[in-house]
Amino acid sequence: MINYKNDSIEKFVAEETWEVYLQNMNTHNLKLHDGSGAGSDFLGWVDLPKTALKEIPKAYNEAIELMQDKDVVVCVGIGGSYLGARAVLQALSKPFSKSSPEILFAGHHLDADYHADLLNYLEKKDFGIIVISKSGTTTEPAIAFRLLTDLLKKQGKSKQLKRHIIAITDAKKGALRNLADELSLMSFVVPDDVGGRFSVFTPVGLVPLAVAGVDVKALVEGAKDMSGEIGYEQLPGKNPALRYAAFRKLMWDKKKSVEILANTQPSLSYVAEWWKQLFGESEGKAGKGLFPASINLTTDLHSLGQYIQEGTPLMFETFLEISNPDQSLTIPHDEANRDKLNYIADKPVSYVNQQAAAGTYQAHKDGDVPVSRIVIDKNDAYHLGELLYFFEKACGMSAYALGVNPFNQPGVEAYKNNMFKLLGKK
Ligand code: PA5
Repeated sequence: MINYKNDSIEKFVAEETWEVYLQNMNTHNLKLHDGSGAGSDFLGWVDLPKTALKEIPKAYNEAIELMQDKDVVVCVGIGGSYLGARAVLQALSKPFSKSSPEILFAGHHLDADYHADLLNYLEKKDFGIIVISKSGTTTEPAIAFRLLTDLLKKQGKSKQLKRHIIAITDAKKGALRNLADELSLMSFVVPDDVGGRFSVFTPVGLVPLAVAGVDVKALVEGAKDMSGEIGYEQLPGKNPALRYAAFRKLMWDKKKSVEILANTQPSLSYVAEWWKQLFGESEGKAGKGLFPASINLTTDLHSLGQYIQEGTPLMFETFLEISNPDQSLTIPHDEANRDKLNYIADKPVSYVNQQAAAGTYQAHKDGDVPVSRIVIDKNDAYHLGELLYFFEKACGMSAYALGVNPFNQPGVEAYKNNMFKLLGKK
């Protein structure tokens, strides 16, 4: 279950007006189910959690088997073809423990130093590649994939490439599909009706996560349960994703232009990166859209906190919280008490973090920043599945409420066209 808690609405509108916002948002929710909105060819993600479970056990076990004895598995992809897996993995990983296989990422930018160092790191290692590109033609992952395949060849594995590579791409078209077929690689299909940023519950997210040892069944179960809770049969006032989307619309109408997702747990910082792409690419068109930004608490309170508290009133803030964090680490008692911390001795560090978040929420609210809270019960695969689906649904509704097609990204082509021209591509 996800709790969406909002005590800022009454500052902006009367109850009857808020009710109208909710009813209007429900018509947008319905469009995501009956396909009457723009971009309806890309609604495959809506019911995906209900069907994705069926495909998981067998096919994904084969991927796990292929990769499990590798030292390192490199996931190659960008945007929607990498952020979902990275977000879940980061949320569930222990920051100082190496997993087996170790999971690394490449092809999400064009930094030469990063890729050179990666190749250096992999030189003497047995590594696998999971290459993900729906179009199969995106430049950044294509370059990384070429570099990594070249290294496999230099390691003398030219004849065993299919023991090292999994491809996730279109069923029929694109360079990656052709290559996967030619080399008889293990491959998975990105459904035609699911766009990149909505693809975390397809093989795009699930295969790398399964290989990394994440309980993908629980992740999808969470999404499935959430899809029941925020479907269009749900009463608007009881639908947390709809209420969140309606508040975003209210903020847009009240001339706010930035939404800050305030993470109370650094482990969720890549969830925020995924969320930024989801909302940014879905809504930012036709001169419209809230700019999605994020901060990590308490780190960024020592950098951006001042601006949020007292700067230009551009933004509203959505706190992302976990209600039951691990409480096992407590603050030690110290007889000398030179640091004056004994007043919180024996308290869990996570309790102190929660109080810091509560204090920040109140301070920003007092500073006239509209605030609300999205609260998940626990940081585990099931609750992350709930959260990601919650955001996808809210995003679809929210973009429809702005009057834009959530499922295209025409603006992304502009930089590519210029880059190709500069590189002399024919
Ligand atoms: O959400 C999207 O559609 C994009 O971010 C794409 O996922 C991203 O551009 C990568 O595209 P592709 O999977 O075709 O390589």
